[in-house]
Parts: sequence; structure tokens; C-alpha cells
Amino acid sequence: MRKQFIKNIKGLVQVGENLPDQLRGAQMNQLPVIENAYLALEDNEVIAYGPMDEWPGITDWRDVEVIDATNCFVLPAFIDSHTHTVFAASREEEFVDRINGLTYEEIAAKGGGILNSAQKLQLQSEDELFTAALSRVQKIKAAGTGALEIKSGYGLSTEGELKMLRVIQRLKQHAGISIKATFLGAHAIPSQFKENRQGYIDSIIHDMLPIIGKEKLADYIDVFCERNYFSTAEMEQILDAGAKYGLKPKVHVNQFSVLGGVPAAIAKGAISVDHLEEIAANDLDALANSNCVATLLPGCSHFLSIPYGAANELIAAGAVVALASDFNPGSSPSYDLLNVLSLACIKMKMTPEAAINALTINAAAALELQETHGKISLGRKSPILLTHEIPSLAYLAYAYTEKHIQRIFI
Ligand code: NIG
Ligand code: FE
Repeated sequence: MRKQFIKNIKGLVQVGENLPDQLRGAQMNQLPVIENAYLALEDNEVIAYGPMDEWPGITDWRDVEVIDATNCFVLPAFIDSHTHTVFAASREEEFVDRINGLTYEEIAAKGGGILNSAQKLQLQSEDELFTAALSRVQKIKAAGTGALEIKSGYGLSTEGELKMLRVIQRLKQHAGISIKATFLGAHAIPSQFKENRQGYIDSIIHDMLPIIGKEKLADYIDVFCERNYFSTAEMEQILDAGAKYGLKPKVHVNQFSVLGGVPAAIAKGAISVDHLEEIAANDLDALANSNCVATLLPGCSHFLSIPYGAANELIAAGAVVALASDFNPGSSPSYDLLNVLSLACIKMKMTPEAAINALTINAAAALELQETHGKISLGRKSPILLTHEIPSLAYLAYAYTEKHIQRIFI
């Protein structure tokens, strides 16, 4: 049995017993911290914590590692509840097109965007995709992420979508981090179905979902509900079909336009609605009155130069707000959740406390990992971060290019 005693911790963050599983409204700006603290782990399970002056000391020194965290903070590892980590190739040529004046939607309309990624993915084997994605996940972990969601959606055919989901299944077994898989067959209409949208939707429902259900290849189902992608009615049809296989919705909505996808997804039992760069009054009402998590993706807003989600409006309305990276080759080529933390504070004016809550407790809720992740309490094996020496917690968001993570305990 391996024991770790972390002592002299400047601030032990998001710690306590009976902390809520979801935070909303004024709760979002409260973050429990024990100053000058210790934390004891046994095989990564929290066995004791408290202020240093209550430290019981170590009696049995066998297999004990003592870590001095003077001037350092300890917090639960961040949770990335929205990524597209499996992909075939980067898309910096579209990035240059955007520098030269095209928009993301214009690039997509001429066959770039998601269809570009789908074409490239067709040419790669499951093994090639797995090797590349595994190396990305190792970097994601080292950057401070303690659990992760990964979507399919660059296959856009039965063969391609199943290939992606099998890669994610292998990552679950080999990556040494909790991963949830989301089936995003409805990410775009492939070109051969351009004149026959329902034909592709039928293929999702009758060809893909039965196999995914039988082989348990996904935990959630996603639809890109957006103009030029899938309508609200099409999303509802696909979510209903997914529900027959026990797949709960986590959907892309309101990235460029408000189509009524937020209340519609909530009515279908969505665990989260993600993006929300655009928002309407009835979206705020619907979110305030449900446990559905509103997941904002400031890395995408930054990279595409589109509006940022209205975090403080959502918080004031009483929604459960989470943050995620949206890591993908087209709209957010970064998995760095510390950068997401900084963007949330700088651009969305979230307080550092609210942003940390949004990346821990509420992000865990967005992946239904609240029993195991996102907080530090007795008996839990939640992955934990140790920072470098920093003057305060706000410094994590403030010094926005500095490397803050010294070590992650998973
Ligand atoms: O979340 N908006 C839809 N899907 C991704 C982008 C996918 C891509 O461009 O490859 C997103 O931003
Ligand atoms: Fe996304």
C-alpha cells in the first residue's frame, strides 16, 4: 500500500464532506479552501486532510512518500466534459483561410470543416487513430485533466463512426484516466446525402445505433443542432432513437444560432447542452429550472473569434455552468484547461472561484462522475493536482501562459 502525505499546502481547494454535486447561482462563487493544510492519500484514496496544526504525524514510515507543498495549492484535477480527441489530422490550412477572411461557416460550406476531417479519417486505420489519440490523452493528463469525454463524429458513415467509437473504447482501457464516449454520428450531413438528409438520419438510427447499443460503444448521444447542420426536429428524432439504447443526450447547441435546441434537448433529458455562444431568454429559463449542465467552451470562441458564452447571465439565472475545452482540429485546437480557466476569467468575467467550480464539480456533473471526481473528500480517489509555487489561487487564471501544474495524482 502506497501512502502519500502532502504537507504545508498553501491552500487545499474544493475540499470537504457533503459538498454539493452541482453548483448554481451564488454557490458558484464560493470555493471551500483549507489554508496551510495537509492531505494524506493511500493508493490515491483520500484518507485524511485538515489544517497543518491538526496533522496527526506519521507513525508507520513504510512506503510513505512525503511531499512538501510549501507555497503550492492542491486541488481536484480538472474535468474535460467535451472533446473531439480522436481525429486524423490537424486543419491549419483552414486556420489560414480564416486569417485571410473566410468564416468557419463559409469554410464548411465549401467542403472544409467537419467534412474535411471525415475525409481524412476514412484513410486511417483504427490502429493509427488509436496510437495518435493515446499520445494526445497522455499530454491531456499531464496538462492537469483528470477525466475526459471524447466524441465520435468524424466518421459520418457506419464504418467510420464505429471505428472512432472502438478507438475510444480502447482508450478507456489503456489511457489510465476515466473516459466517457459520446456518439456524434449527427455531426454533419455527409456530401453523398446532401440531397437526402433523412437517408443519413435513417442510417444513424437503423445502421449505427443498433450496433453501438449491442456492443456498448457509447455512454451518450450528441447532435450538432445548428443551421446548415441538424434542425431541432431532426435532433429530437435522433435523441429519441438513442434513448432506446440507453444513450442520454449531451448536445451541441446555439453555437451560431438559436434554433430552440436548448429547451428541446432538456425536454429529452439532456445531461448537458454545450456551446451556447448564442442564448435566448427562454434558454435561460429552461436551464434555470433543470439539472442540465450549461457547458461553455471559451477556447472555441477565442479561436473562431465568435462571441463568448454569457457565463454571468447564466449564473445569475441559476443555471449549472461548466467549462470544457472542445479540443478538436477545427474550432479549438487546445486541450489546456488552464487556458480555458484564464479565458473564462479574462473574457467571460467569471470569478476564478466560479471558473474552478465550473471545471471541477460542475464538469464532473456534466459527465455523471460526481460520485468519484471533482472534489476532495474522504474515501474518494478523485485525481488531484499539485501546483508549482504560486502566490494565490487567482494567479492560476492571471498568469495565463505560465505552466502551473507540478504533478497530477491519478
Ligand atoms: O464543437 N461545432 C461542432 N463541432 C465542433 C467543431 C468540429 C470541427 O470543426 O471539426 C465544435 O466546435
Ligand atoms: Fe464540440
